Amino acid sequence: MKNILVTGGAGFIGSAFVRHMVEQHPEYNIIVYDKLTYAGNLDNLLPVSDEPNYRFEQGDIASRETVRRAFQAHDVDTVVNFAAESHVDRSILNPDAFIHSNTVGVHILLDESRQHGVGRFLHVSTDEVYGDIEPGYFSKEGDKFAPNSPYAASKAGGELLVRAYHITHGMDTVVTRGSNTFGPYQYPEKIIPFFVTEAIDDKPLPVYGDGMQIRDWLYVDDHALGVATALFNGKSGEAYNIAGEHHEHNINVTHRILDLLDKPRSLIKHVPDREGHDLRYAMNCDKLRELGWNRLYTFDSALEATINWFKENEWWWRKIKTGEYLEYYKKQYAARLAAAE
Ligand code: NAD
Ligand code: TYD
Repeated sequence: MKNILVTGGAGFIGSAFVRHMVEQHPEYNIIVYDKLTYAGNLDNLLPVSDEPNYRFEQGDIASRETVRRAFQAHDVDTVVNFAAESHVDRSILNPDAFIHSNTVGVHILLDESRQHGVGRFLHVSTDEVYGDIEPGYFSKEGDKFAPNSPYAASKAGGELLVRAYHITHGMDTVVTRGSNTFGPYQYPEKIIPFFVTEAIDDKPLPVYGDGMQIRDWLYVDDHALGVATALFNGKSGEAYNIAGEHHEHNINVTHRILDLLDKPRSLIKHVPDREGHDLRYAMNCDKLRELGWNRLYTFDSALEATINWFKENEWWWRKIKTGEYLEYYKKQYAARLAAAE
């Protein structure tokens, strides 16, 4: 392992992993390969952009030629695939891009990796492949897949291809399945950065349905460390859950955000629910712990740090909340908010 291609490294979790690897592991060359979709942002990589072991290549994982060129130009021997369309609501509005990047793109990246003789291929997946989880149960790595959104189904498709390349071609693959992640540099469409930035501007917070859905919250640096642990210590062909093990109803998360920002609860608007909304995600992550991983952050301290980061870094998010973002906001929320009034 020497030259590591990190696809999707300009996104939220990928950039946290890249910042960690570039700073803590000067013995590796880190090459970010990213299409720079609406969610890809080179500002996320500014802290490492001048480091000698960091490189950037723009490209689509579903484009054979550009993938091949990047493999050859950087003598890539390891791949860590974060590249994906990642937002469930967008997958309901427009699923095509999800199949392109999360399923077809994974296939092309795998196939080119095999032909180039790449060693370890780590694929970043999600707890959403397990689907809606009954109260009291915690998903284990061997559980069946039951994806419910186009996003989750496209990720499950990508993962199954990773499995197939391991079994059919003997590729050295490892999969991680992370839970809902939050922290600095998260695109402000996911609930925490969306609600924090809207509340700062005294705008309404659209809670889907009754807000009693449960997510398992994981801080981004703990997610990045989990991926690094699986990359270095994971067993070939295995999958590893990475969970925050902090379960909260959405409405409670919303209350905490408002309280920490000293904003009134009257900003909350209960709007029509998301179609096919999974009620609960929860995972067991003992298997990753056995590899030596442990979380470093509690939910409370991480949420406070995240909110402070958004308060102190308006330069980062204000320019994002323009143009395409506003188009998306209108499609996703205009009718919902009108229905709530
Ligand atoms: P993100 O949307 O912030 O970033 C995705 C990145 O991938 C962007 O930089 C984008 O430009 C790039 N990208 C998208 N399609 C591409 C393509 N075809 N070719 C090359 N680059 C492409 O996403 P994120 O939240 O950082 O998620 C990263 C990974 O982690 C994804 O695979 C996602 O499914 C998974 N995941 C996310 C969460 C979460 O809560 N955000 C939880 C578990 C797993
Ligand atoms: P999200 O951050 O989109 O992540 P995911 O769908 O991958 O879990 O949503 C987290 C939870 O918050 C989910 O139950 C949907 C809910 N939610 C709202 O109630 N309102 C919103 O505006 C958004 C974006 C999410």
